[in-house]
Amino acid sequence: MKLPSHLTVEGGHLHIGGRDIVDLAETYGTPLYVTDLDRIVGNFKRFTSALTAHYPAVQVLFAAKANGNLAVMRALAEQGAGADVFSSGELELALQAGMQPDRLLFNGSSKSPADLALAVETGVRVSVDSIDELRQLEAAAAEAGKSVEIAFRVNPALEVPTHPKIATGLKTSKFGIPAEEIVGAYAEALACEHIDPAGIHCHIGSQILEVEPFARAAAVMVEVAKEVTNLGAEIRFLDVGGGLGIPYHHDTDAAPTPEEYAAAVMPVFLQGIRDAGIDPALWVEPGRWLVGDSSVLVARVNSVKRAHRTFVNVDAGFNLLVRPAMYDSYHEVVVANKADRPADGTYTIAGPICETGDLLAQDRDLPAPEAGDLVAVLDAGAYGFAMSSQYNSRPRCAEVAVRGGKHALMRRAEDLGDVTAAMQEPAWQD
Ligand code: LLP
Repeated sequence: MKLPSHLTVEGGHLHIGGRDIVDLAETYGTPLYVTDLDRIVGNFKRFTSALTAHYPAVQVLFAAKANGNLAVMRALAEQGAGADVFSSGELELALQAGMQPDRLLFNGSSKSPADLALAVETGVRVSVDSIDELRQLEAAAAEAGKSVEIAFRVNPALEVPTHPKIATGLKTSKFGIPAEEIVGAYAEALACEHIDPAGIHCHIGSQILEVEPFARAAAVMVEVAKEVTNLGAEIRFLDVGGGLGIPYHHDTDAAPTPEEYAAAVMPVFLQGIRDAGIDPALWVEPGRWLVGDSSVLVARVNSVKRAHRTFVNVDAGFNLLVRPAMYDSYHEVVVANKADRPADGTYTIAGPICETGDLLAQDRDLPAPEAGDLVAVLDAGAYGFAMSSQYNSRPRCAEVAVRGGKHALMRRAEDLGDVTAAMQEPAWQD
């Protein structure tokens, strides 16, 4: 199997960022997420320069939902990243990580009054998802005596080639305002005393392995920008969202590079803004592309069972990586302590959760795993730990960061006390 440059095999062991995964599992225990922060920084630099090669005024916002660890966000903040934040929690974490407020966009289709108040208080830009929300935000800003810069989330009504659960710009999606209604929304926003409409925003979906849908979305966006400009408004930024996919099937996925993405999107964007006579900043919101390949989930084999297929029962399941169960996602697996051995059979990696669907990988050709071996699930850095749970009362595992050859915890393992920490006995049970 092809491995990206930060994953290597030395002495039969899989390494990440130069560190032996077998040693890390000994040191920190399993299950364990290991994240190569250098890889994330490298991904960010590559993504950014692919776009700035065409246009200087580009701001890359990390989609914080993909990986909410503060160490990850701090590593990106140090590089000048902003963030797409989708909750008050993500907003606060991004600020804690040192991201500048003017590089954040507060997204979300269902913001609460408290969310809107926090946006006003922190002064971040808000992507407004409905007219109802616009009116509530105007009221919140008026009450605080402040002005809020906004974008409208545009629903571009585009079909995209990805799992239906992660296509977000369909006509039927819950996100955004139909493109043809944006001019009216903008007119209302211009009339609001405490709202400063400054941009438009969209996001068409995630794990998209073709560039053409992004070019189509850019075309819709520059058209909307033109109409809004004709209304007399000034479009200062145009946010085309995230969504570029990564090659989860290492040997067969033909994933576009950021350079190919830029080559498809930038000419449409540049021509469109030229036609409209505007020069907005271009914002993009990659999540998966920045962090997806940076992490492995390391699980230890508890037992092997030969049944109608051979199950390799490991200590991590969909409590720690829900993507295979939720989206039928494919993740490559490597037997980390037998990484140089040839496959000798077909195995299904099963987690410890009490559900039939708790399979991390199905029917994979691997060197015979045995109890005590380590299975590394690759490309777990995006929507991996971020979507973990304590289902079956399983404390979440630790996360280790690797950087410049060093390793350190970036999250300790939980214990049962963390599972019960917020529970309370109703008084009548005393
Ligand atoms: N911007 C917005 C407004 C988004 O909703 C998302 C992702 C992104 C940016 C980043 O998209 P990315 O570049 O990561 O594709 N849990 C699913 C993915 C859900 C994506 C939700 N929105 C998965 O594991 O595949």
